[in-house]
Amino acid sequence: MTCPRKKSVQAALIFLCVAHLTAGLKCVCQLCANHTCETTVDGACWNSVMLIDGKEETVKSCLSPSEMKGQVFCYSSRNVSKRNCCFTDFCNNETLHLQPERPLEEPGWSRLQLAVVILVPSCLLSVGILLGVFAVQGLFCAYCRAHKQDQEEPLDDQMLMSPDKCLKDLIYDMSTSGSGSGLPLLVQRTIARTIVLQETIGKGRFGEVWRGKWRGEDVAVKIFSSRDERSWFREAEIYQTIMLRHDNILGFIAADNKDNGSWTQLWLVSEYHEHGSLYDYLNRYTVSVEGMIVLALSIASGLAHLHMEIIGTQGKPAIAHRDLKSKNILVKKNGTAVIADLGLAVKHDSSTNTIDIPSNHRVGTKRYMAPEILDETINMNSFESFKRADIYSLGLVFWELARRCSVRGLHEDFQLPYYDLVPSDPSIEDVRKVVCDQKLRPNIPNQWQSCEAMRVMGKLMRECWYANPAARLTALRVKKTVSQLSATKDVKD
Ligand SMILES: Nc1ncnc2c1ncn2[C@@H]1O[C@H](COP(=O)(O)OP(=O)(O)O)[C@@H](O)[C@H]1O
Ligand SMILES: [Mg+2]
Repeated sequence: MTCPRKKSVQAALIFLCVAHLTAGLKCVCQLCANHTCETTVDGACWNSVMLIDGKEETVKSCLSPSEMKGQVFCYSSRNVSKRNCCFTDFCNNETLHLQPERPLEEPGWSRLQLAVVILVPSCLLSVGILLGVFAVQGLFCAYCRAHKQDQEEPLDDQMLMSPDKCLKDLIYDMSTSGSGSGLPLLVQRTIARTIVLQETIGKGRFGEVWRGKWRGEDVAVKIFSSRDERSWFREAEIYQTIMLRHDNILGFIAADNKDNGSWTQLWLVSEYHEHGSLYDYLNRYTVSVEGMIVLALSIASGLAHLHMEIIGTQGKPAIAHRDLKSKNILVKKNGTAVIADLGLAVKHDSSTNTIDIPSNHRVGTKRYMAPEILDETINMNSFESFKRADIYSLGLVFWELARRCSVRGLHEDFQLPYYDLVPSDPSIEDVRKVVCDQKLRPNIPNQWQSCEAMRVMGKLMRECWYANPAARLTALRVKKTVSQLSATKDVKD
């Protein structure tokens, strides 16, 4: 049996449950009276936050089921950052914030932040990598330098210490490797400091020339006084002009400046030629026609090489000697000659058409000075002028040489040019009067006409000493004419 009181309680509970299920939700509502609203059945409490004019604005209210169907109100979107639909009483009481989702909501900011996030570390990384590369490069260079030194030391040892290395080998090494301008300075210094001086062999403008011994071989040492340091430096510089080395230019070996505390010794070391200068040689000996041609050809070849500009990385500038004379030409054992004493030479820079040092137009040996130097009409702005003045001097040297050529037992004594017209140590004025005013030139003996080689030599020298510099032959032309002569079969006639 059921109790009627119990039944009424059960009915009341069922009513309450149904009533509850069919009633709406109570939600927080900012714009409602009492800040509360009540949803219809199946409604929801709504909570949202959005950014308006840079400020977070929250909206809390009730949502009807129709509003919820569109689902727009319940999901976050770009414009409204956060929306929340919930289904218990006052569940929208919490306060939402945009902050966590800001990057998604704010594309401008997010890009900036993204850029910062990407760029800063990558910049730091790049700087790090660069620093790393520089550091490695620095280490590598230091290694290379150390390694190069390592290489040079054995090279020195190899070049200097190995007893079978003679000067010829050294000079061969020098011309086949390296910069093309000479031995490494360390090697030059080491050679110079192991030379034992033997005897003086010459005296010139700037000091003494000695014969010295290096490893049993003869070398020539030109010693400058410390007053003439500029001349020493200049001559060493000219000899070390890239690609100057030639069979008919004195073979330079080393330059050294040794400070012994109280003075500086300035040395130029070169190959030694026991015959000495052409002046000494012609004083002592006569030459055959072939001997004359060999000497003339080698002098012309040396001068043509000096005068020639070679373009390119392994090229050389044109050089004018400015003191060509028989005392500045040396005779080798094999009867050929080399041009020496480059102390007054000038180099031509063809790219700027300038001469490498300020040139004083009255340098050289007065007796050998071209007429335009003597009367100061030389065009100093043209490098050609210096070459043409050299050619004039070459003509005089050829005359000295040809006089000593013995043809059928006949020859002349050795004489300097104008020996019969100027005093032994002539002034510029003495020479100028003869060469410029009287327009005299060395005498060409008639008997030279009877021998083809002598006739050609006579013609050549006349064409070298024209008063008009532009009319003179070039060194290359002289060289070609003499070499044709050497090819001629009847030179002995
Ligand atoms: N390499 C050498 N071998 C032999 N003799 C030399 C050598 N160099 C110079 N002489 C002699 O020394 C002289 C003077 O040398 P040089 O170089 O012309 O010096 P300077 O500049 O003082 O005129 C020459 O005329 C020659 O007699
Ligand atoms: Mg000299």
